[in-house]
Amino acid sequence: MLTQSASPAHIQRILEKLNTFNSDQTGGTTRVLFTPPELEARSYIKKEMIDLGLSVREDAIGNIFGTLAGTEPELPAVWTGSHIDTVLHAGMFDGMAGVVAGLEAVRMIQASGASFKRNIEVIVYTSEEPTRFGLGCLGSRAMAGELSLEQAYSLKDADGKSLPDVLEELGYDLTQFADIAVPMGNVHGAVELHIEQGGVLESLDLPVGIVYTIAAPTNFLVTVSGQQRHAGSTPMHLRHDAFLACCELSLKLEQLAKDSSSPDTVATVGKVEVLPGAANVISGDVQFTVDIRDSNYETKRSLVEEMRQFVHAVEVSRGVKITVEQINDDLPTRSDEHIITLLEQACREKRIPYHKMISGAFHDSMLVGRFAPIAMIFVPSKDGISHSPEEYTDYGDIALGTDILAETLLQMAQD
Ligand code: GLV
Ligand code: MN
Ligand code: MN
Repeated sequence: MLTQSASPAHIQRILEKLNTFNSDQTGGTTRVLFTPPELEARSYIKKEMIDLGLSVREDAIGNIFGTLAGTEPELPAVWTGSHIDTVLHAGMFDGMAGVVAGLEAVRMIQASGASFKRNIEVIVYTSEEPTRFGLGCLGSRAMAGELSLEQAYSLKDADGKSLPDVLEELGYDLTQFADIAVPMGNVHGAVELHIEQGGVLESLDLPVGIVYTIAAPTNFLVTVSGQQRHAGSTPMHLRHDAFLACCELSLKLEQLAKDSSSPDTVATVGKVEVLPGAANVISGDVQFTVDIRDSNYETKRSLVEEMRQFVHAVEVSRGVKITVEQINDDLPTRSDEHIITLLEQACREKRIPYHKMISGAFHDSMLVGRFAPIAMIFVPSKDGISHSPEEYTDYGDIALGTDILAETLLQMAQD
């Protein structure tokens, strides 16, 4: 067992420094993929890795790997890590806590002088958040072989720039894109620490969660074409209001999620663009996002099927045209039983009470789980709040989670 515990002060120092790389003018954290603050944060983390004595490399989509060498570096490595990009007007813990916990765990393992066979790698995955390109987990998705260069060209930011164009401008070598995929068997196991982003641990007054399943999203971009008309002179029965079709679909999605047989089904319409967007004009065009998640893929599929049938019904009843473009359809990921056992053992040895739970949010581990055994450690979110400037996690709780992480990584690296 490691004798040294994780230091809340170290964790706080790095998280607060990371938070200075931030374009949010109003008190939150905004760090969007490959914008200046995100690039500065990347450089900062690489410097922290080098200061720890890790060797640093990056792949063709910008996933950063900091490697602590084991005595048998040819063996499949042990991974930890998370992301440093954010949603707009976010908090300073989502993703970043996992990267910093990885660095702190490596520092503790080094300080212990323990010998271990496998390399331990701290990874910063590129763009877990869909903020810039509308699709999440870009780096880990490419690792899982679920994002080809061709698909990447179809991902465009708000300025119409594609992901590969941005990568090329930054000097990444697109001829290496296919090499990002990680073959099955190359990674011995991966453990990600993340803030819970919900209120379960706090309600149970427990400092640590062990994730056994990550619920997965299916995302759509829906476009409604109605008729743009005068809001005063068009009687109600002669309207084809695109926004009202969007409202009807949104409410139906809420009902379908509430009525689902799976307790983990959730559905959200999070972004709506109403055109032309004027008080005295009936909307002619609306584009909106749909995000449906579940720990059970089958219930999610049947909800999607019901949504599609309802779309047809609304087209007919409102005389509008609706197109539904599927962005992604991810499979839930189950954690590896052996890693869970190691995490539980570490909790028991350190007398840290824990709760086994699902993750409603998605994480890079969801895609890493396609090619490696994974598990996740959760630490509590104050008031269950995340994706908000009010997001907060106690540094002492991150340190407790890091103690479990460090112990488990060392065990796996010695295995
Ligand atoms: C990740 O941020 C998610 O939306 O679950
Ligand atoms: Mn997030
Ligand atoms: Mn996250």
